[in-house]
Amino acid sequence: MNRVTDETPAAPDLSTTEGKLADLKERFHEAVTAAGETARQKQHAKGKMTARERIEELLDPGSFVELDEFVRHRTHAFGMDAKRPYGDAVVTGTGTVHGRQVAVYSQDFTVFGGSLGEVAGEKIIKVMELAIKTGVPIIGILDSGGARIQEGVVALGKYGEIFRRNTAASGVIPQISIVMGPAAGGAVYSPALTDFVVMVDKSSHMFVTGPDVIKTVTGEEVGFEELGGALTHNKVSGVAHYLASDESDALDYVRTLLGYLPDNNQSEAPVYDSEAELETTDGDRRLNTLIPDSPNQPYDMHDVIAGIVDDGEFLEVQPLFAPNILIGFARIEGRSVGIIANQPSAMAGTLNIEAGEKASRFVRFCDAFSIPILTLVDVPGYLPGTDQEWTGVIRRGAKLLYAYAEATVPLVTVITRKAYGGAYIVMGSKQLGADLNFAWPTAEIAVMGGQGAVNILYRGEIKRAEEAGEDVAAVRTKLANEYTYNVASPFLAAERGELDGVIEPAATRVTVTKALRALRTKRASLPPKKHGNIPL
Ligand code: HXC
Repeated sequence: MNRVTDETPAAPDLSTTEGKLADLKERFHEAVTAAGETARQKQHAKGKMTARERIEELLDPGSFVELDEFVRHRTHAFGMDAKRPYGDAVVTGTGTVHGRQVAVYSQDFTVFGGSLGEVAGEKIIKVMELAIKTGVPIIGILDSGGARIQEGVVALGKYGEIFRRNTAASGVIPQISIVMGPAAGGAVYSPALTDFVVMVDKSSHMFVTGPDVIKTVTGEEVGFEELGGALTHNKVSGVAHYLASDESDALDYVRTLLGYLPDNNQSEAPVYDSEAELETTDGDRRLNTLIPDSPNQPYDMHDVIAGIVDDGEFLEVQPLFAPNILIGFARIEGRSVGIIANQPSAMAGTLNIEAGEKASRFVRFCDAFSIPILTLVDVPGYLPGTDQEWTGVIRRGAKLLYAYAEATVPLVTVITRKAYGGAYIVMGSKQLGADLNFAWPTAEIAVMGGQGAVNILYRGEIKRAEEAGEDVAAVRTKLANEYTYNVASPFLAAERGELDGVIEPAATRVTVTKALRALRTKRASLPPKKHGNIPL
């Protein structure tokens, strides 16, 4: 803060303008250094930045405008009135990222452990409301011991108000949480309500009940890291969307992510000046050799994505959770596009509960913020098993159907290989509302795969072959190939108009680019309703 630049006199004379300016300068200094040097060093010793250092690194240099730096708590309990630092335990304000306005709050662990009392809550609520009112993304940097224990119900109430603002802002402005320390108890639900949660390896933790409570109640012994560390939430629970190697990596990811997002649901994501080459290039032709001849052999769907999008750049979201489906942002002709793709190299690209939930939330984010969706399909079906059935694959799997069926943004789908059963329908099929659907000649679209169909349709023939002492495996393969060729052929779907075209893989980039151009003027709306009832 350089609002006052002249030298500070030793004892400001408040009866003069000069003295008042000097007093202001002193107060700014006090606000900025509220926690003191020891607290700063303590934070650094843990590999963590201070709340202000984080804001400085997140925002464009010199763009931060702080709010409420002279706010102080009003608590008398527990001798709290002896310590009333300026700003309390959170730094809030506005600034820019790549020249675009954002609002930010950053909890200061060096002040009362970043805990949220009445005034820290008020500061956060004020900056959230400013973000909603001005239609700009809000970024919360969390590093807090949770509700301020000394303030009791008042602190709890502020969380309730924050959750209500998070919910009101959902689908209106992008909300991003960067967890850079503890987020404990009900406090975790603010990040959970936001669109993206970034965590820092080894230094951030999120849990509703900590290790001590768990041990007391259930007898289970678990450490902070295993229970709620960044790796756990990125890989196991799916709470987090990016595992940052350190704090700078986390801030860098968020700056990059913001580049793909619009300011709010009424505005368009930034468009970069870029016109696609509409002739097939050598790079495009690499896709012609990607699909292995054997249907059981995997390939990496990242290669397909890289072959379609600008500069091959794909900002993956939640890469460690449910790796059988890929989600993330890229640009095509300089415009943001959300990508959802089955990943044949993880669990053969099957859909399970985790993959369905990961993809449905992403579809809804893109739809809320008018980001077109490109779906790449290679899915052998749903993952079978009692585990999936009993943990709700019906209820939870329905989310993805709901999300696609409700989406009104441009939807373009390309089937590269397998598209079987219900999984064909759910992955951006025309029947669910996709606008332009294409398939490669390697596509197989049917109720089930050839081998499975043969077991049901040709039971008699197989039995006869067995009894006649024939090579059953060869008979089975022949019948399966016939089924795949005759029933699962993409030309059958194209014949019925369920595909808009069968294309050479090398033509995918150009086809998708032209499809998205054609859909730029798409207008679609849903019937009026208060809100739908997505299966939760
Ligand atoms: C007030 C707190 C505090 C809190 C930490 N501090 N949490 N002060 N209220 N919730 C203070 C400490 O007293 C200490 O002050 C300073 O912050 C640093 O804390 P340490 O414990 O020294 O730090 P560390 O060892 O790194 O441990 C961090 C921690 C631990 C794991 C977060 O402080 C902790 O367990 N805190 C309590 C967490 C908790 O149970 N919160 C309530 C969750 S329930 P001094 O003066 O000594 O430096 C909740 C409900 C939300 O939040 C409801 C939503 C509906």
